[in-house]
Amino acid sequence: MTVIKTLVSLTLFTGAWAGPVQKRQWFNPNPAYPPDEVDMLLVATMPKVAVWMAQRAGKTNNCTLENAAVRKEWSDLTPDERKEYIRAVRCLQSKPPKAPKDQVPGSLSRFDDFVATHMTMAPMLHSPTNLLAAHRYYIWAYEKALREECGYKGYQPYMNYNRYADDPINSPMFDGSDTSMGGNGEPHDYPGIMTVFPRPHNMIPSAGGGGCVTTGPFKDMVVSLGPKSTIVRDIPPNPRADGLGSNPRCLRRDVNKYSAAGARANYTFSAIVDHPTIDSFYNRYLGQPQLKDDPNPWGIHMAGHYIIGGDPGGDFYASPGDPAFYFHHGMLDRVWWIWQMQDPDNRINAVPTHGNLGAPPEGGGGGGIWDEVVDLGWTAPPVKLMDLNEQLGGLGGEFCYVYA
Ligand SMILES: *[C@@H]1O[C@H](CO)[C@@H](O)[C@H](O)[C@H]1NC(C)=O
Ligand SMILES: *[C@@H]1O[C@H](CO)[C@@H](O)[C@H](O)[C@H]1NC(C)=O
Repeated sequence: MTVIKTLVSLTLFTGAWAGPVQKRQWFNPNPAYPPDEVDMLLVATMPKVAVWMAQRAGKTNNCTLENAAVRKEWSDLTPDERKEYIRAVRCLQSKPPKAPKDQVPGSLSRFDDFVATHMTMAPMLHSPTNLLAAHRYYIWAYEKALREECGYKGYQPYMNYNRYADDPINSPMFDGSDTSMGGNGEPHDYPGIMTVFPRPHNMIPSAGGGGCVTTGPFKDMVVSLGPKSTIVRDIPPNPRADGLGSNPRCLRRDVNKYSAAGARANYTFSAIVDHPTIDSFYNRYLGQPQLKDDPNPWGIHMAGHYIIGGDPGGDFYASPGDPAFYFHHGMLDRVWWIWQMQDPDNRINAVPTHGNLGAPPEGGGGGGIWDEVVDLGWTAPPVKLMDLNEQLGGLGGEFCYVYA
């Protein structure tokens, strides 16, 4: 830790980087939020990224560190940039759906098409081999829809949980201002969230919300799809068993600091640096096995989800129906990428339960997992799972972004 801190402060303030990294800013000093240990680890990792990209020259489908898009933290966007992002999300919520009416009668918009994709393809999206990569593709497809269908010029922001963990309700993400992603829910009989762990640490307590969001840009948003596996009491059931029918209702949240505590930077940092194999990283990401004496043993995946909880944010199937979902999975994608880039030779093609699969077979294909397909239905075309591993140059160069 101390070594990393020293190294980072040196590189940060002397700019002692070689090559393309020097030409762009990889860290945006934000007076409101001093860099946490994961931010600093990322800065310290950028020289490795530059070395990797030099080594990969000619094989990254024209993706370079100079032309890569930069996904930023929400608070690092200017207020106008945040408003522009919010405009684009609302635009997606007003565009007609592409999902066929007979299959998804409850989809009201292109935004809902993404929710319906997540609902109908949940087993594929959440299998151990796919969780990381298929969600990378899913977030990217959403960003692409915002840009191509709604004229958004920026990139998908992420939520650095650590910035907001002390007081998420009053954070720039959820304070209900017109530059936030909407406020907390009204007080409600919200049960908190039962997790799978043995007592006493099996419950993320309610933080007092759970009712309708009444402030900020999404206060009038209509949630239609779901619920399918809700944690909120007293919401009307969906007319269809698969949750894809029309069920108009308000957006509900319980913006929850107890959940956020399990996604603080010490958890994400430890997941990255203490877990060199893909299986151990993946298990830590899911919070399994539970750490001894851990007061917040949710795992960063669950902890990040239940920072909003509510409906549909707390519903395993319909969770992308809360627009904050994409910020959470953006952060998870960032954590995975930082983990990959600690040792790209051995980690880029490492897949949970399969270990490090190394370089792709000559001439493509090769059978088994190399031919496995991820299909996002109405939101993005089928692609090979193994084409989703490289954030800089994967998917034939369509993936070309970094997290700042
Ligand atoms: C990469 O750039 C070269 C030269 O500009 C171009 O000929 C080639 O088509 C590009 N490849 C891709 C995948 O965009
Ligand atoms: C993170 O820090 C909190 C205290 O701030 C501690 O209770 C928790 O055990 C730490 N978790 C990890 C994984 O280090």
